[in-house]
Amino acid sequence: MTVEISRRGPGVARPFTLVKNPTALHKAPWTADQNAILGDAAFSAARATISSWPGYAPTPLVALPGLARAAGVASIHYKDESGRFGLGSFKALGGAYAVARLLQREVETAMGHPVPMAEIVTGAHADLVAGITVCCATDGNHGRSVAWGAQTFGCACVIFIHATVSEGRKAAIAAYGAEVRRCAGNYDDSVREAQQTASREGWFVVSDTSYPGYMEIPKDVMQGYELMAAEAFEALSEPPTHVFLQTGVGGMAAAVAAQAKRRWGEGRPVIVLADPDQSACWVDSYRAGAPTPVHGDLDTLMAGLACGEVSALAWQILSTHGDAAMAVPDAAAVEMMRRLADPVAADPPLVAGESAVAGLAALFAAMDDAEARAALCLTSAARVLVFGTEGDTDPALYAELVGADAATVRARQPHRRAPE
Ligand SMILES: Cc1ncc(COP(=O)(O)O)c(C=O)c1O
Repeated sequence: MTVEISRRGPGVARPFTLVKNPTALHKAPWTADQNAILGDAAFSAARATISSWPGYAPTPLVALPGLARAAGVASIHYKDESGRFGLGSFKALGGAYAVARLLQREVETAMGHPVPMAEIVTGAHADLVAGITVCCATDGNHGRSVAWGAQTFGCACVIFIHATVSEGRKAAIAAYGAEVRRCAGNYDDSVREAQQTASREGWFVVSDTSYPGYMEIPKDVMQGYELMAAEAFEALSEPPTHVFLQTGVGGMAAAVAAQAKRRWGEGRPVIVLADPDQSACWVDSYRAGAPTPVHGDLDTLMAGLACGEVSALAWQILSTHGDAAMAVPDAAAVEMMRRLADPVAADPPLVAGESAVAGLAALFAAMDDAEARAALCLTSAARVLVFGTEGDTDPALYAELVGADAATVRARQPHRRAPE
């Protein structure tokens, strides 16, 4: 029977829904099918390529002892992706890597022989590459990464955004030289429009979500994301007991889960997914035991997570290697953004955007509730890892929600205040 805990309504300080994945198993093998999606060889290729790009450096892994005390766990480590390649989010690892891989494949087809990735990165086939157009649908961060990749490697780029993507995010994508087209409807509608236009025009869709018949490129995207997980795991002195991961289509969470499973086998940490409660497709899918779409306008402040359908590839990983999904409201994300910006004890201030903290919000909600703690085996000995997947990617919205801009937050000195 599926375990479900729901805490909502008046008097609940931190509302949430938690659904345990009935088919999750620490002992489940890492299958050949899963390894064909995210395996060591593909990851090594992604790491070698991405770490050769100018400006590559592992992002910081920040210990937050004050926040851990406030949550009631032994430790919290926060992987701060706000500085990744100057793009403001972990997405720089995925979309741009998939663009590079696509260009490599296309140049190979045109030339009729293998072409080393270094030749794509150094622009050795600029003429061929300039005739290629990549496109994608995005709520912001993925489109920025694809546009940056296209500009860096020299191809053309058109990005499709849906009705509620902010003007700030639109401008940030256009700044990398892409044409940006706004479509009616939600994220999933913009995915369909990008696909239809690409088929008509002979363009290549570089999507971060997969669906039957479209698997290769999102696989490259996820292979790029794995680098974030590998950097974090290598920087920890002890493996985490729990990882809380915010989910849109689930590509990022699947990449982290894959790294964890391949590294630690059945000793992998408990993996908890965190959806916005207005687009809780992972909660619904774990409840149903199969990918289950959420309909409607998916209206959440957590723009990067406003996805109604899980990625088919991510489902193949997380149907056995994800232990539970939680849904949290926008207010919980805002609380965490503020807490990180104005930290307790000697924790450093951190700039985390709206889509960066659902995992942390889910941890706090679970720690408030005895039944949820028991369901997730969360005790005061838990060593928790979270991924702060973006900084202030929408600076105006960040300043409005936090009450200070990113520069002001970063300039703050750690307080010596006791945790609440
Ligand atoms: C900041 C941020 N965090 C997390 C995610 C979730 O990634 P995924 O859609 O692969 O689940 C996104 C997706 O756009 C994002 O922008």
